[in-house]
Amino acid sequence: MKNFEFYAPTRVIFGRGTHEQVGKIIREYGFSRVFLHYGGGSIKKTGLYDAVVSSLTENGIAYTELGGVQANPTLSFAKKGIELCRAFGAELVLAVGGGSAIDSAKIIAVGAKNEGDPWRFSMKEDVPKAALPIATILTLAATGSEMSASAVITNEELGLKRGYNSPFHRPLFSILNPELTFTLPPYQTACGIVDIMMHTLERYMTQSSEFELTDRVAESVLKTVIAAGAAAMKDPSDYDARANLMWAGSLSHNDLTGCGRDFFMASHQLEHEVSGMFPQVAHGAGLAVIFPAWARYVLPHNVARTAQYAVRVWNCEMNFDHPEKTALEGIERTAAFFTSIGMPSRLSEFGITADAIPLMAEKCTNFGKRTLPGVVTLDKPEIEDIFRLCL
Ligand code: NZQ
Ligand code: ZN
Repeated sequence: MKNFEFYAPTRVIFGRGTHEQVGKIIREYGFSRVFLHYGGGSIKKTGLYDAVVSSLTENGIAYTELGGVQANPTLSFAKKGIELCRAFGAELVLAVGGGSAIDSAKIIAVGAKNEGDPWRFSMKEDVPKAALPIATILTLAATGSEMSASAVITNEELGLKRGYNSPFHRPLFSILNPELTFTLPPYQTACGIVDIMMHTLERYMTQSSEFELTDRVAESVLKTVIAAGAAAMKDPSDYDARANLMWAGSLSHNDLTGCGRDFFMASHQLEHEVSGMFPQVAHGAGLAVIFPAWARYVLPHNVARTAQYAVRVWNCEMNFDHPEKTALEGIERTAAFFTSIGMPSRLSEFGITADAIPLMAEKCTNFGKRTLPGVVTLDKPEIEDIFRLCL
């Protein structure tokens, strides 16, 4: 087991009706000026916006707002938020929505407290020295941004999507009401299921020495998400299924399923190039295509681990003479599950063709400045190979 640090400081308020407490909770911290940030309009359609605004007003909290964050959020929009946030003198940034609204809020919270272009933080050329506190009301179980240290943003001028971690990104509190996810379109529910699984699975597919407890926690999360995912796809208002997905989403990316391991999220890095250049690709949908291709590509170097996953998560029978067959069965079961919930299996389904591959691979290596570590070190030729397998 590797040495590790676990830090999950976000206060989680979980359950039915909890979003109505938002104003009261903000008051407990003594804040009275809030910057409210949300996506393209789903919260207005569902009535959540009205409930949030009422709760703020009833508790005497002044707010200004910026709605309209797009899926795969952009730096230019976040910069607009930074200006508004500073001009208003906000004391807290409140994101209401999915990972896009939350990540955009994180960039704003940091940008409001640091002069200069926040993109330098995304490029890891500098680190933020302060940030406004962030709170979230989650409407989509997927990214885990409601507890994570990451913020992912696209610089649309450069066509580059980059994530970076900072302790300032961990929300002060997150309100998780599974009922708020009943209105999700099936496609977004499915994208979320894939993303949750990937946050745990990418941590699981490691070469470092094993940590039994972390393995068992991860396997439990994966099995729960597979069952709850299928149930939520069948009945979008199944509260228990939605609740399991929501909590699994938070636990998958708050580092719990990575304790005591070295890991590198290669499929995520590959996917960010895809949705960075082609914003019509939802993050989870991109992962559904990339992960099976990556797993097959690195399989010769990762047989034991992948076979353990196949046996423990998918109940495959271990073939002791040919463990690689068991491992492959686990990958194929994963790919089939993704297809069964309506996820794509090819990048060509998004109109992406082979011509895009060299540039995506070039960007993935930060123009020759990095390779992707992990089960196998991936440089530009290997990255291109994997993208080709995805077409
Ligand atoms: O914009 P609105 O109108 O709100 O609609 C959204 C959006 O169209 C809709 N939606 C959300 N909740 C809804 C709803 N529609 C109906 N009912 C609801 N309850 O769903 C669409 C997608 O929302 P979005 O926030 O983009 O999805 P997601 O949560 O999957 O976030 C994706 C972004 O997060 C990044 C991804 O790369 C992508 O940019 N990630 C962030 C991470 C982090 N910060 O830790 C980790 C992840 O690996 C990921 O990279
Ligand atoms: Zn993800």
